[in-house]
Formats: sequence, structure tokens, C-alpha cells
Amino acid sequence: MEDDNYTVVNEFVFQGLTASLQLKVLFFAIFLAVYGVTMVGNLMIVGLVAYQPLLHVPMYFFLGNLSFLDFCYSSVTAPKMLVGFLSGANSITYRRCITQIFFFHFIGGIKTFLLVIMAYDRYVAIFHPLRYMTMMNWTVCGGLVGASWAGGFVHSIVQVAILVQLPFCGPNRLDNFYCDVPQVVKLACTNTFVVELLMVSNSGLLTLMCFIVLLISYSVLLAKLRAESAPGRYKAISTCASHITVVTLIFGPCVYIYLRPFRSFPMDKAVSILYTVITPVLNPFIYTLRNKDFKIALEKLMKRKRKSTP
Ligand SMILES: *[C@@H]1O[C@H](CO)[C@@H](O)[C@H](O)[C@H]1NC(C)=O
Repeated sequence: MEDDNYTVVNEFVFQGLTASLQLKVLFFAIFLAVYGVTMVGNLMIVGLVAYQPLLHVPMYFFLGNLSFLDFCYSSVTAPKMLVGFLSGANSITYRRCITQIFFFHFIGGIKTFLLVIMAYDRYVAIFHPLRYMTMMNWTVCGGLVGASWAGGFVHSIVQVAILVQLPFCGPNRLDNFYCDVPQVVKLACTNTFVVELLMVSNSGLLTLMCFIVLLISYSVLLAKLRAESAPGRYKAISTCASHITVVTLIFGPCVYIYLRPFRSFPMDKAVSILYTVITPVLNPFIYTLRNKDFKIALEKLMKRKRKSTP
């Protein structure tokens, strides 16, 4: 339905991070480096998990999936942001903006569900160690991963379906460096109260609930591990600790961004950077640097490399 009374907005202009040219160049250099490390780090985990038989267990397959998703996640926002630092007019078409939101929430949703699955995986491993291999067989793992993709899709398509109904008639200055629901909704020229409520419950409450469930689960797991005296105890505790760190890094900012009526706060962009740029680069380090299996896998890979290059 076209309404002639207002001009339809075809593109949004990103406000960006800064107006200063020097800072833009500096940010470009820093974020390019971070993005590069994100790609290399996460793809290396995916490669290690795929090719190293030592890592062919459900936990590492989920981790491989998570790394792959982190790689995709930063690729949804980073390239456009990097180009934005260097070009004068930093705008995005309406369609691309909606597409970016779709993938942003699609991948974010999958990641959320995957983290819940990873907690369940640890639960089975710790509470039912003898039945672990039968309970987490390939069919189950594949099914769980498939379910997380389906969940992410539903989560995202619902938001986009609501979003595309909103009329945009200017202003079109988007106060961020990528398209996301809170900032875009703010630009709609209609009363968005109900829409905001829907979005807060879809993104905010969903993440808050998952976050709480995850924190409780890992607390229970840690309590159980502390009470035990099995030899693998320290390794299990360290695994849980790194999971909790990643969960907090992902869900903390997420809850901050989505669980409130869409007002903007001065900290918003900093949190967005943390969430879209910094967290994906931290995951590979948190998981691999403290993990013995990964260290062994990496060493083996290095040895093979050294042998094959004369
Ligand atoms: C993702 O998980 C599935 C099911 O466990 C597994 O077959 C696949 O290899 C994993 N993908 C990556 C990139 O690790």
C-alpha cells in the first residue's frame, strides 16, 4: 500500500561512531585487525574440529558450530562498518537494512539456542557420564543443531515480518553502525508502542530467560563437580568456567540492548561494539587457550605442517 502523503524512505544513513577523520582511520585499522583475527581464529577452530579425530565428540562439534556462527555473525556487520569508516556517505538501502537485521537475528538466535544445547550437553556428560555416548549420539546432535537453526529462523522472521509493516517517512538517520531493530523502529513514523513490546519480548525476554536458565544450569553443574573427587574434575570445571564466560559475554550485552523500551543511552554504541565485534573474537581464545584437547590438536597440526614443508 503506497501512501502519497509522505515520502517513503529508501535508505538509512548510519550516524556511525565518530565524525573525526583521524579517529575513523584509527577505528578502521583496529576493527580491521579484530575482524581478521575473528575470521582466522574461528575458521581455525572449525578446521581443527573437522579434521582432528581427537575433537570428534559432541561438545567440540557444537563448539565448531558456534565458531562458524561467530564467523558469520561478525561478517554480517563488520564489512559494512569497515567500508563506512572510509567512505564519506555511509548509507544502506532499506532492503539491505532489513536483510542485515534478518541475518543478525537469525545467527544470533541460533547462537542462543546452541549455547543452551551446549549446557545440556555438559549436563548429560556430568550427570550421566556412562550413558553420555548413547544419549548424545549423532542423530540427537544433528537434531539439536537443526532445531537451533529452526529456532533462530523463527525468532528472526517474526521480527522482520513485523518490521516490514512499519512506515518510514523520514528522518532516516540511524544512530548506529549497523541495522538493528531498536534503532530502526525508532525511525518509524507511527506509534510503535505495541511493536516495541513485541520486540522486547521476542528478543529481550527470550535472551533473559535463556541467560537465567544457563546461569542456573552451570551453577548446578559446578556445585556437582565441586562435590566430586573424580580425576577429570578440574578439566570439567575449567570447561564449565569457559562456557560461563562466553555465555555472560554474549548474553550480558544482548539483555542490555533488547530488554528495555527503545530509548537510547550513551553507552549503547559501546555495548554494540562489544557485542558485534569483540565477543566473536574472544570466543576462540576463551575456548582454545585453556583447553588441553585443543592445544594437543593444534600441536599435531603444527607438526604435520612442519613435516610437509621442507
Ligand atoms: C555442527 O554440528 C554437527 C552435528 O553435531 C556436526 O556434524 C558438524 O560437523 C558441526 N559443524 C562444525 C562446523 O563443526
